Amino acid sequence: MSRITLSVIKADVGGYVGHATMHPDLVDKANKKLSAARKKGLLVDFYVASCGDDLELIMTHKKGTDSKEIHGLAWDTFTACTEVAKKLKLYGAGQDLLKDAFSGNIKGLGPGVTEMEFNERKSEPIIIFMADKTSPGAWNLPLYKMFADPFNTAGLVIDPAMHEGFVFEVLDIKKHKKIALSCPEEMYDLLMFIGAVDRFMIKAVYRKDGEIGATASTQKLSLVAGRYVGKDDPVLIVRCQSGLPAVGEALEPFAFAHLVEGWMRGSHQGPLMPVAFHDANPSRFDGPPRVIAAGFQLCNGKLEGPVDLFDDPSFDEARRKANEIAYYMRAHGPFEPHRLGLETLEYTTMPQLMKKFEKKFKPE
Ligand code: F6R
Ligand code: MG
Ligand code: MG
Repeated sequence: MSRITLSVIKADVGGYVGHATMHPDLVDKANKKLSAARKKGLLVDFYVASCGDDLELIMTHKKGTDSKEIHGLAWDTFTACTEVAKKLKLYGAGQDLLKDAFSGNIKGLGPGVTEMEFNERKSEPIIIFMADKTSPGAWNLPLYKMFADPFNTAGLVIDPAMHEGFVFEVLDIKKHKKIALSCPEEMYDLLMFIGAVDRFMIKAVYRKDGEIGATASTQKLSLVAGRYVGKDDPVLIVRCQSGLPAVGEALEPFAFAHLVEGWMRGSHQGPLMPVAFHDANPSRFDGPPRVIAAGFQLCNGKLEGPVDLFDDPSFDEARRKANEIAYYMRAHGPFEPHRLGLETLEYTTMPQLMKKFEKKFKPE
């Protein structure tokens, strides 16, 4: 058994066409940069993926979480890819690199990050979920189902290794505080928090013996920049099997295309559609939001994979339903609840309108 760190760091450094998908030259550039780092021994292994307009660096190494070297490598890779994007005049080149310089940790600079360090088990199946056109709160419902809902995860009921339940670490992103809540004992308390997806986000899930089961990116670009700069498009790592959710239990929540914030201009509610890699090109009304699932077997840090886990006809019905919901939601046009409420709108003309019509408003 050896300690290994899995880091998934992602950014939108230029869209092709508009915000729809990824130009292959960006993937090539990222592959070259990470390949050089593997040769030097900084990385054990890597895989470059994309979901919509987001470039996803999946890396294994021995440097632990929050490593300056690994975060620096990701920053350099995104910077190099931005150069390529600028040359090609891709849309929004460098849009997620909100700061000019790297200062030791990539968190707070724009890109999304999730990492976990663990002892690689005898066999280590993992799934990396990557979403586009949505925000980190999108993981709350599926994570709850995977690790706390017996109607989703049979193991919670019938596997002695899971029967004790799990601990959820939840962030209050407005107050910058976190809380650990234990399920099933504190299930109703947990739900009260995580149902408010815009404010409370599940950051990690642990087994009660301390083994880590899942970690999610929780960065909100708008909080970093103080204004709308694109949706956060989060990532999630889930370890599977042997006392953790089976691969099928981790995928099962996505058979229900739940409503998430994001879609056009980051300002609409829409269904999260589970798709195969080749279908992660959100185009209708810049969406609807997508999620892909890349399965890997870790082998001494080496990433065997990926297997495109939503490339399975058993998710066709979820996709069909998602399309039906998309039509239904779209029919609301600029009305809530399709358009987000004033508090959460990412694009808004309201301040200008209030100013413009200040004098026209009369006491009723
Ligand atoms: C959503 C997203 C797109 C853009 C939209 C307008 O996350 O990225 O829906 O918000 O295409 O983009 P701009 O304002 O750059 O023309
Ligand atoms: Mg974009
Ligand atoms: Mg995106």
